[in-house]
Amino acid sequence: MTAFGFIGTGHLGSMLVKKFVETGAIEAEEILASNRTQEKVQRLAKATGIRPASSRVVAELSDVIFICVRPLEVRDVLSELAYLLDFQKLVVSVAADVSLENMGALCPARLARAFPSMASEKLQGATLLAFGDNATREDRGLIVGLFQAIGKAEVVEEKDFGTLADLTSCAPGYFAALMREFVLAAERREISAELAERLVKQTLLGTAMLLEEESFAGLIKSVATKGGITEAGVKVIEREAPGMFDQLFQTTQARHEQVMKNIEGQR
Ligand SMILES: NC(=O)c1ccc[n+]([C@@H]2O[C@H](COP(=O)([O-])OP(=O)(O)OC[C@H]3O[C@@H](n4cnc5c(N)ncnc54)[C@H](OP(=O)(O)O)[C@@H]3O)[C@@H](O)[C@H]2O)c1
Repeated sequence: MTAFGFIGTGHLGSMLVKKFVETGAIEAEEILASNRTQEKVQRLAKATGIRPASSRVVAELSDVIFICVRPLEVRDVLSELAYLLDFQKLVVSVAADVSLENMGALCPARLARAFPSMASEKLQGATLLAFGDNATREDRGLIVGLFQAIGKAEVVEEKDFGTLADLTSCAPGYFAALMREFVLAAERREISAELAERLVKQTLLGTAMLLEEESFAGLIKSVATKGGITEAGVKVIEREAPGMFDQLFQTTQARHEQVMKNIEGQR
């Protein structure tokens, strides 16, 4: 039986534990978890049946250890537990901007990075995965399988994590921000914001379902008849949006570079 450990049960760590247990991807009794603030992990244990423990015990008794702390906290966690994280262990970090190379300099374990999305709360998130050279074929199969259970898993080039994370992990926030602007524009046209939000949300859900079988271009084609109203609206988006999205990527890329610099500065 594989033993799984989670260090850090904040927003992401607790979501992963809950969803892996709920979907049966991992049995509750196979999971040990620790958190800096005890109450948080105790609450999670009560809700899911997993076992709370210290990080040392998690590292000692688990075969696969998920590191779910913030990027600038990874160094402390890995260097403190390095003596337990040998080649027998698989360490999977979910932290943004902490590279496999950064992790490899801190502990000799087999390594992987996962970048999940909170959309996995609804079993629909896309998780980005990258593996260290020392990860085995079994490691890859195991981790891909776990994240497939709570959405879709994509093994990608580690160098693309930053840009791709905008499309997956950050995107629920971006979509919500865009739709809020849509609602606010309707409100400026004297439509109640509450009614507009309700209608947009329902339409968004239906659109997501249509997109299960349709490309974006295909859906635009079927909704925007030639010379019609929707086509005129789509043209406005095609004119205005490229600059906004280019700026978004530039801004988030600069933030990633700053965080990576801060991580390098911890050496
Ligand atoms: N949230 C997302 O949508 C998302 C998506 C993809 C990746 N991520 C990555 O996931 C990581 C966690 O993000 P989050 O949103 O879950 O942050 P969070 O809610 O702040 O969770 C971090 C948790 O780590 C705990 N922690 C910190 N240092 C610790 C230590 N030394 N030992 C044990 N536990 C420790 C914190 O404990 P306390 O209770 O004491 O604060 C906190 O509960 C980040 O690296 C982020 O890049 C997040």
